[in-house]
Amino acid sequence: MSTGAELRRKFLNYFALRDHLILPSASLVPKDDPSLLLTVAGMVPFKPYFQGKVTPPHPRLATAQKCLRTQDLEEVGKTARHNTFFEMLGNFSIGDYFKKETIGWSWEFLTKELGLPPEDLWITVYRDDQEAAEIWHDLMGVPRERIIPLGDDTNFWEAGPVGPCGPCSEILFDLGPAYSCGSPDCGVECECGRYLEVWNLVFTEFNREEDGKLSKLPRRNIDTGMGLERIASVLQGVPNNFETDLIFPLIEEAAIASGISYGADDKSDVALKVIADHARAVSFLIADGVHPSNEGRGYVLRRILRRAVRYGRLLGIRDPFLKRLTDKTIALYQDPYRELKERSGHIQRIVSLEEERFSETLEQGLQILQEQLEKVEVSGEKNLPGGVAFRLYDTFGFPLELTQEILAERGMNVDLDGFRVSMEKQRERARAARVETVPSDSFKVCTAYSGDKTKFTGYGNLSARSQITAIIADGKRKSESDPGGAGTGYIGPDTFLL
Ligand code: ALA
Repeated sequence: MSTGAELRRKFLNYFALRDHLILPSASLVPKDDPSLLLTVAGMVPFKPYFQGKVTPPHPRLATAQKCLRTQDLEEVGKTARHNTFFEMLGNFSIGDYFKKETIGWSWEFLTKELGLPPEDLWITVYRDDQEAAEIWHDLMGVPRERIIPLGDDTNFWEAGPVGPCGPCSEILFDLGPAYSCGSPDCGVECECGRYLEVWNLVFTEFNREEDGKLSKLPRRNIDTGMGLERIASVLQGVPNNFETDLIFPLIEEAAIASGISYGADDKSDVALKVIADHARAVSFLIADGVHPSNEGRGYVLRRILRRAVRYGRLLGIRDPFLKRLTDKTIALYQDPYRELKERSGHIQRIVSLEEERFSETLEQGLQILQEQLEKVEVSGEKNLPGGVAFRLYDTFGFPLELTQEILAERGMNVDLDGFRVSMEKQRERARAARVETVPSDSFKVCTAYSGDKTKFTGYGNLSARSQITAIIADGKRKSESDPGGAGTGYIGPDTFLL
C-alpha cells in the first residue's frame, strides 16, 4: 500500500528522472487570469507558457497542484468521487515532447511503478485521433477493444471558456464487477463508477478564442492530470476518495466532534464526508488569501464553509467544531504545503469568526425556513417564494445554494425570479442609502483620523498594502474589531480598506 504522500513523491520523482523541472503548487487563486475564479487544474498556472506569451523556466514541468472545483458542490459527500479541493498530479511539455512520450510514461508509471495490472486499464481517445489510438495499440500493446473513441463531451479538454485546450486520451481503471450498475451496456462511458478515470492526457494544440473559435497554438504541448485522491483510492483498495489516508483522518476528527462513528448509517456518513472535504477546501482557500464574502471566490469559500456548518448541525453538533477540522488539515498537509502552517493563526481566526457568525443565525433561519416550507406545502406549491429565500440570504446569511439544497431534499425549489427581484430592490435601496450617507459622520471621522491622506484604491486593485493607524467601528475609535463588521473602517495613511 502507498500513502498519498508516497504517491505524490513517487510521481514527481518519476518525472524528475525524465528531465522535468518540479515546481511547487501554485496558489488556488489564479494569477493575472480573469477568465477563472480558481485553479481548477494543474495547467492553469502554465497557460501563458502554452500560449507562447511567457517563456517557461524549463520545457518539461511536473507538479502536484492544489485545485478546487465547485460545479458539483451539492454532490460532494453523496458520491464516491466528488471533492471540492483535490490535488492534481501532472506532467507538462511546453512545445517539447508530445503524444508518444507522454502515453509511454503514463503507461509505464501506472503498470510498472504502481504495478496496476495492464488488463484492468481501459483507454479512451478523441474520435478523430488515430495517432493516439495507434500509439496505445502498437507501442503499449493495449488490445483494440479496450481503446474506445469518444466525442467532444469527454475527450476534448478545456479549462474554461477561453484558453489552451485540445483533444485528450483518458486512462480508466476497471474496479471490477462489484462496482458495476449491472446493466448489459455498462462500459467506460457508464456513470456508475465501475470504470474510474485516473489520468487524463491532453494534447494541447489549440487555443479557444473570445469568439469561441479554435486557433492553433504556436507549438504542440502536453498537459496531464491525475487526481491524487483517486489513484490513492485504487492503490489503497478503498471504495472512495474519502477513505484514503488523504481525507480519512478528517472524517475521524468529525466523528469525534459529533460522537457519531463513520459507518453508522448512510446519512451521517454523507455529513462526515462533507465536513471532511469542506474543511480541507476552507483551510487551503484561506491560506491562499481568500476571505469569506458575498462575491467571487470569497462567496465560494463562504458557501463551502457554511455548508459544512449546516452538516455539523445535522449531526447534532452544537458547539463550534470547524476549527478542530481545519487544525487537523494543517497538521496533515503542512508538508508539503508550508503555507498552511505559516498562516495557521489566520486560518483559525477566519474559520472561528465565520462559523460563529453563521451559527448565530443558522438556527433561527432554519426555523423560518421550516415554517415557510410548511405553508408552501399546505398550499400545494413546489416553490419557496423568492422573497423568503432572499431574507434567509440577506438577514440570516444562508447562501442561496444552501437554501436550494435544503429544499431539494424535500423535492422543492426556490422561485428564482422572485429572489432576483428582491436582490435588485435591495441593491437599489443600498444605492440610494449610499448617496445619502456619503457625507456621514463615519466618513468624516475616517478622513479626520487619517489626516485626509486616505486613498480608495478598490477600483483598480483587489488588495493593497497599507499601514493601519486607526480602527473605527460603529462610529467610534476602537483598539480592535472584526474585519468587515458593520460600520468598520481601517484607516491607513495611504489606503482605505473596507
Ligand atoms: N487539464 C486536464 C484535466 O484537468 C489534464 O483533466
